[in-house]
Amino acid sequence: MLSQEFINEVKERNDITDVIGGYVSLKRSGRNSKGLCPFHSEKTPSFTVYSDTASFYCFGCQAGGDVIGFIRRIENLDYVEAIKFLANRAGIAIPEEGKNDGLSHMRLRIREQNREAGRFFYRSLYSPAGKKALEYFHSRGLTDETIRRFGLGWSPDGWDLLSRHLEQLGYKRDEILAADLGYSSRKGGVIDRFRNRVMFPIIDLQGNVVAFGGRRFTEDAAGGKYVNTSDTLIYKKTNHLFAMNIAKNCKTRELILCEGYMDVIALHQAGFENAVAALGTAVTPQQARVLHKYADRVVLSQDGDEAGQKSIARSIPIMKEEGLDVRVLQITGAKDPDEFIKKYGPERFKLLLDGCTNDIEYSIMRIASKFDISTDDGRLHYLREVCEYLSSLGTLEREVYAGRIADRLGIEKTAVLSQADASARRRIRAEKEQEFREMAKNTAGIGSKVNPERSANLKASNAEYALISILFRHQDKIPAAAKELPPEQFVTDFGRRIYTQFIELHESGQEVSVSLLTPHFSETEISEIVKIINSDDSVGAGDFNTLIDVIRSAHFTPKPQEAAKLTSDELLKQMSILRKKKS
Ligand code: CTP
Ligand code: MN
Repeated sequence: MLSQEFINEVKERNDITDVIGGYVSLKRSGRNSKGLCPFHSEKTPSFTVYSDTASFYCFGCQAGGDVIGFIRRIENLDYVEAIKFLANRAGIAIPEEGKNDGLSHMRLRIREQNREAGRFFYRSLYSPAGKKALEYFHSRGLTDETIRRFGLGWSPDGWDLLSRHLEQLGYKRDEILAADLGYSSRKGGVIDRFRNRVMFPIIDLQGNVVAFGGRRFTEDAAGGKYVNTSDTLIYKKTNHLFAMNIAKNCKTRELILCEGYMDVIALHQAGFENAVAALGTAVTPQQARVLHKYADRVVLSQDGDEAGQKSIARSIPIMKEEGLDVRVLQITGAKDPDEFIKKYGPERFKLLLDGCTNDIEYSIMRIASKFDISTDDGRLHYLREVCEYLSSLGTLEREVYAGRIADRLGIEKTAVLSQADASARRRIRAEKEQEFREMAKNTAGIGSKVNPERSANLKASNAEYALISILFRHQDKIPAAAKELPPEQFVTDFGRRIYTQFIELHESGQEVSVSLLTPHFSETEISEIVKIINSDDSVGAGDFNTLIDVIRSAHFTPKPQEAAKLTSDELLKQMSILRKKKS
């Protein structure tokens, strides 16, 4: 266990704005700082860092907490690891520990099981029973050398062959489930997650097998095309890139980003060892950060189909935001890089790579391909859409490409530019409105989940929240509040729990902070609390007594039908409140 003093020191030496500033580009606004939320994708900043309360909150996705909570989320660490991470960052020595805590022990067990499973799958592939699977890999052009290099395998055709193997090695049911190598059967046993599939291990930057993808390889097999390990204590799909463990050793600062396992493996076999894959989704900001660690330029090499093109469109802004130079590779005559290499060979692929367009040329070309520019009507529609796109670019880029588009259409450049300006204004307005709507929707949803009594007691719970916010800022007022308004008189259970913690912490001589509240609430609850304490203190501390009155009086205005439903206990409680109030 880490001592409270140690944790406090770690927090003191890690200023929240500094720490978050290392991940998010923040702009000061008053005492707070704002930026684009790293936990969801957005275009206008709703992520706020509050330096006075040492907390952060995103109005878009409701993530919130203290500096430790931030590191936990962004680095995907548990509580203790996050503290150690921050200790290292600040150069504070970590106290010796007698034993591993539960979570890091479980992580270790998961890593070991994955390594065992990888070996098991590889062995099975080369066993007589694995003949079909091996033939499948060979039929897709993979050599034994490549199979070994990527540690590919076959999960045998049975219900629990791997699970039983792991149990023999001493792994418990819980540990197998925690690794997501198996799931519980209705009878309480364990069923292998991967059965009769060709297996692709996913390996992290340190060389640990952290997850698997399993592909169906016969037409009649059950289940979807791919089965993948879900997120576990050691794996978060959206942070990982397949084959990054190999590609990171390439000398070039350029990476090729593909969609699937097979594309990456085929490219490596053909000599392009800088290929990686985001595994079937658009790039996330976390993945973009990893890419940027090893490269300055990323060539998007998605499938040629509509899904691939959509994923390119979504990935481009995320990678540019990260500061990467983005190129787009146009695959024609094959559905994906894997097929292309097989049909036309590595040299042709190299030509494609050399000739790939930058992301702006790509986007403009995509738009042009939708219209027939030889007709007036087509040109008009093209102009409208391409200006819409231009409006999202920086001024310099807008200038350059407006010129090219104007030449192509035979019109004045100023006409293109003014059209683009108009779209920019429209777009910004629409985006703001959209984000605001979503924010309002999400906030309402989360708020009522965390505090289900709130919607029926809006006035009282608003007063509770305002009081909590005031007390957090003026902690010297806590004893007076506790005297005037005992926690029992809080209307909502959630408000009461916060209030009780405030009083208890204050009584024990500690300063109420997000960190000290964290152990008593769930992650969503903490996010909500951060929002409450940072919400505009518009009521003002002077209204302290009014707030207390509002909360108290909420007990005396039950709607008629509700009064009838009160149990005798509740009636007694109300009567005692009434008596206290009169005395
Ligand atoms: N994927 C997935 N689940 C699916 C389909 C796809 O997880 N049901 C992910 C896999 O990581 C896959 C990637 O998306 O590698 C790309 O999908 P797809 O193009 O369908 O698969 P390929 O890897 O290209 O496989 P193949 O060439 O064998 O079709
Ligand atoms: Mn594919």
